Amino acid sequence: MSLQLSEKPLLEAEAIQKRIAVLATEIEKEYPCDLLVGVLTGAFIFVADLVRQMNPDIKLAFVKAESYGDSDTSCGDVRFAGIEKMNVKDKRILVIDDILDTGHTLNALTKLMQDLGAISVKSCVLLDKPSRREVAFEADFKGFVIENLFAVGYGLDYADNYRALPAIYTLQENEEPL
Ligand code: IMP
Ligand code: MG
Repeated sequence: MSLQLSEKPLLEAEAIQKRIAVLATEIEKEYPCDLLVGVLTGAFIFVADLVRQMNPDIKLAFVKAESYGDSDTSCGDVRFAGIEKMNVKDKRILVIDDILDTGHTLNALTKLMQDLGAISVKSCVLLDKPSRREVAFEADFKGFVIENLFAVGYGLDYADNYRALPAIYTLQENEEPL
């Protein structure tokens, strides 16, 4: 059995850009914040496109999520490299990730930001897979709700592949003929 990229995108590049323009407007209207915190590596393209639709005075930082255990899904033990240099005290924070899956990453990051003295912490994800949730966590802003599919492209990877694709595809199991 091997994994194969879907022939057609799940989300075309143009649809992603249109949705991001709407999200940027919603965020600026509903949650004026002091600092956007992107989660590397998956969110790098989403954050880059989102901030260019927002007020250019917005401040931006990144953390790198390192989860231990299975490489493609996160487990409860998530750590964030880069957070020690970030000043989140008394700030309104918006954390941004590519996809909300089990919920462990954003749940842990939100708690950490609160412990570090943030005034408020909200979250924004491009994709949401609610059927996979393991902890009760909902994003405040979301681009698209998807089914339980493995998405790649537009920053999302499988074993570090496919990140540079401009659209989002799915990976499907391909039964090889005997
Ligand atoms: P969570 O902690 O399970 O919510 O997982 C979030 C992280 O898992 C994301 O930031 C991605 O790195 C990874 N992930 C979860 N689902 C997918 C997917 O469908 N494609 C690519 N990465 C995924
Ligand atoms: Mg990620």
